[in-house]
Amino acid sequence: MLPNAIAVANGKGGVGKTSLSANLAGLAAISGWRVLLVDLDPQGNLGSDLGYTDEEANDGGAALLRAAESGEPVEPLRDVRPNLDVVTGGPGTETLETLVRRRLFADDATALTIVDAALAPMVGDYNLVVVDCPPAMGCLVELAFTVARYLVIPTRGDAASLNGLSRTANRFVNVRRTSNPHIDLLGICLFGFGAQDHRIVAKARHQLEEALDGIAPVFDSFIRHSRKAPDDMRELGLLAHEYAQTAAQAPRWFEDRDAVRYSTSADALASDYQALTKEILTAFAERQAAISAAA
Ligand SMILES: Nc1ncnc2c1ncn2[C@@H]1O[C@H](COP(=O)(O)OP(=O)(O)O)[C@@H](O)[C@H]1O
Ligand SMILES: [Mg+2]
Repeated sequence: MLPNAIAVANGKGGVGKTSLSANLAGLAAISGWRVLLVDLDPQGNLGSDLGYTDEEANDGGAALLRAAESGEPVEPLRDVRPNLDVVTGGPGTETLETLVRRRLFADDATALTIVDAALAPMVGDYNLVVVDCPPAMGCLVELAFTVARYLVIPTRGDAASLNGLSRTANRFVNVRRTSNPHIDLLGICLFGFGAQDHRIVAKARHQLEEALDGIAPVFDSFIRHSRKAPDDMRELGLLAHEYAQTAAQAPRWFEDRDAVRYSTSADALASDYQALTKEILTAFAERQAAISAAA
């Protein structure tokens, strides 16, 4: 377990795990935290969110696989943004999963700690480690939950996402009982809700808070639904605040008829990520302070 690691997980795809991981890590890095972002998804979508897909240095999970095989510390992709390094995901992550499965099958007691071992030697270099999980509740999530001190679960409001949340929560309870007694649920993030749908947001929050029974909060800030901005962000490899900045500096349509059109919700979406990140980092810092005080 790494004392400063947050896993972002939900057993359903498309609920904002990768968007939240990238923006949380990016915003923490701007505020001066040294951040390591770990992509444990074979899809490697973080590369699109941060714009390193085509870079030669993007090894698609090979560095982590190599580290897992050799027992050496992993060499991350450095300075993806100031203060932000990334352990990439991709085809190498898929091979990593096969490797772990084989070791589990052979009753190798270290099978689930190989990522932990690959990251542990460098953890002192970072104030925060964010682990973006794949949707499949398989052994990659198990690896992430072995690394994580904290868990954040993003969810949309539909039944399939809430079902994914509940499966993730069950897995969390299980892991806490077995391989990682220190893992803690930091909170739930509402993702993709209409900014004006106050009643729907309130209802979702109420239902979740009842189900959680005080174990963890549903964060007050939520990520509003937007179609164009997230699509553009991924295409351009920009985080929400970078996209908002680019949009603000671009010529307006009446200044240049051929100007690129940016989403009108760029600023609002960037503010949502800023508010949510602030809440998550505050909750993280409070728990860390409580742990040091108790020690
Ligand atoms: N604010 C948003 N509102 C609606 N859809 C969004 C928003 N942000 C991202 N999306 C879309 O949701 C999908 C899933 O996002 P992603 O962060 O990759 O989720 P996950 O990692 O859980 O699969 C993507 O297609 C993305 O374009
Ligand atoms: Mg993802």
